Amino acid sequence: MTLRYSTDVLVIGGGAAGLSAALHLAPHARVTVLCKGDIEAASSTWAQGGIASVTDPEDSLASHIADTLVAGAGLCDPDIVRFTVEGAAPAIKELVRLGVRFDTEANHYHLTREGGHSFRRVLHVADATGRAVIDTLTEQVLDHPNIDLFRDRVAIDLINLSKFGRHPNRCAGAYVLNRTTGHVELFQARFIVLATGGASKVYLYTSNPDSSTGDGIAMAWRAGCRIANMEFNQFHPTCLYHPHAKSFLISEAVRGEGGVLLLPDGERFMERFDERLELAPRDIVARAIDHEMKRLGIDCVYLDISHRPAAFIESHFPTIASRCRELGIDITREPMPVVPAAHYTCGGVLVDRHGVTDIPGLYAIGEVSCTGLHGANRLASNSLLECFVFAHSAAEHILGRLDDPAPVAQVPDWDESQVTDSDEDVIIAHNWDELRRFMWDYVGIVRTDKRLKRAQRRLDLLRQEIHEYYSHYRVSNDLIELRNLVHVAELIVRSALARQESRGLHFNLDHPDTLPRAEDTILFPGYPDRLDVLRPVAY
Ligand code: FAD
Ligand code: SIN
Repeated sequence: MTLRYSTDVLVIGGGAAGLSAALHLAPHARVTVLCKGDIEAASSTWAQGGIASVTDPEDSLASHIADTLVAGAGLCDPDIVRFTVEGAAPAIKELVRLGVRFDTEANHYHLTREGGHSFRRVLHVADATGRAVIDTLTEQVLDHPNIDLFRDRVAIDLINLSKFGRHPNRCAGAYVLNRTTGHVELFQARFIVLATGGASKVYLYTSNPDSSTGDGIAMAWRAGCRIANMEFNQFHPTCLYHPHAKSFLISEAVRGEGGVLLLPDGERFMERFDERLELAPRDIVARAIDHEMKRLGIDCVYLDISHRPAAFIESHFPTIASRCRELGIDITREPMPVVPAAHYTCGGVLVDRHGVTDIPGLYAIGEVSCTGLHGANRLASNSLLECFVFAHSAAEHILGRLDDPAPVAQVPDWDESQVTDSDEDVIIAHNWDELRRFMWDYVGIVRTDKRLKRAQRRLDLLRQEIHEYYSHYRVSNDLIELRNLVHVAELIVRSALARQESRGLHFNLDHPDTLPRAEDTILFPGYPDRLDVLRPVAY
């Protein structure tokens, strides 16, 4: 018997988007929030730079909109950009009301500057903004009598009732692995909000925590949603390069406060690539670094802020300074070794301004979604903003439908009658590694048709192998994530091959020009070579 839970709204994901949506919903609905691990295991907790919002009288909404559109390289939806930018002030107000204390200076918010922004516009809490925000939201969520938070729960697949006989196309919950007991549980709900974050773990080197395995994108795809713009994978230019520093970001705010990029011989090189130098949009800076590393055959470049006063560095970047010090680097006196790493998934589940997906009852918010805000390249610090704005608009949409009649359908138990315990976990470990390595080598910062096709051939084999494994063995956390990563990698490669141009984050040496007309890449589910089906279940 499958253990069953029932609630009004099931929120899958406990990052900025998920927690924020839960708090908007909870005064009027019963909410269940699922997290894969602990709350720590979310990109949101790791966010450093801050949240973009116009607060300086010299700055303007028009300028924030224009900067977002420029970074997005012609592919942003202008209405969504305006909607999000206008939503920033209320979102910040709400965070302050909940208890977030953004840094101030002389009775104003202290604002940092990041690449692609024409003004200092980024509100922050030193260099640990995400931690401050998530700690505050978590406290509120844990205190709320209408919210149940379940940790160590990995959603495996969404339930689309249309897969079970003559039922409507409607999402009714999810099958979920309890990592502690090893059993699969069923969470049923009237509304489901996907807030599972991005997919940057599909690459070998990433700034993201382990949770970013694209689960929400893969689940939505398998359930029947359209997925858009998956070729636009953002590589952050500066992650710390050190054998003991797994996925540690050096915030763009370091460059915003005067940090310069150097080659090993001390040459400052960004002037050869863009007149905005170190504060050019991320795609340009990451490509410049990649170019120099390949040209000179070097392992990293250097980021130097040591010309600023030590007290300034320590007060603005306490987390970065302290982590570097642990690794033997004193950033007040010497440069940091840095490399680009996969950072943000601009594409995702196609939604409207309320986070509404193609499946009634299913919403997607935050990094898992593709709203049209980021286009072909996300502007720094627009992501947390998007999480809060869309958490609010999706919650409003759901609350407006809470009194609609609930669909009645019997959802079957999870069927384990055909599977056994795996005796070959080495396949999972090997395939995880292989996938992330060839995605880095063939589908990275600079692409070619040949490399993309090579990746596609590897993926065909991996998909078959994982499908077979999934059909015969009991699910485990690693198997679920690997299956999702393979599906997401296929969506990325398909989208990259479909785009016959270079635009924003997608740069293909075989198609270096940008076409005059900007078009989204939208993948439709159910095409003939469909990737997978929901695991067979028995009534
Ligand atoms: P996440 O915060 O990633 O949360 C996802 C949640 O979903 C987690 O709780 C996870 O456990 C859960 N989950 C995932 N899969 C499953 C599953 N199958 N079942 C159950 N739960 C699941 N953006 C900015 O705007 N400003 C910044 O300063 C900034 N700095 C960043 C620094 C770093 C190091 C990183 C990695 C990102 C940064 N970003 C920044 C990007 C931004 O943090 C993320 O895009 C944003 O936090 C995503 O929030 P989210 O709620 O969508 O997802
Ligand atoms: C950073 O602090 O550099 C990350 C900001 C972001 O990804 O928006």
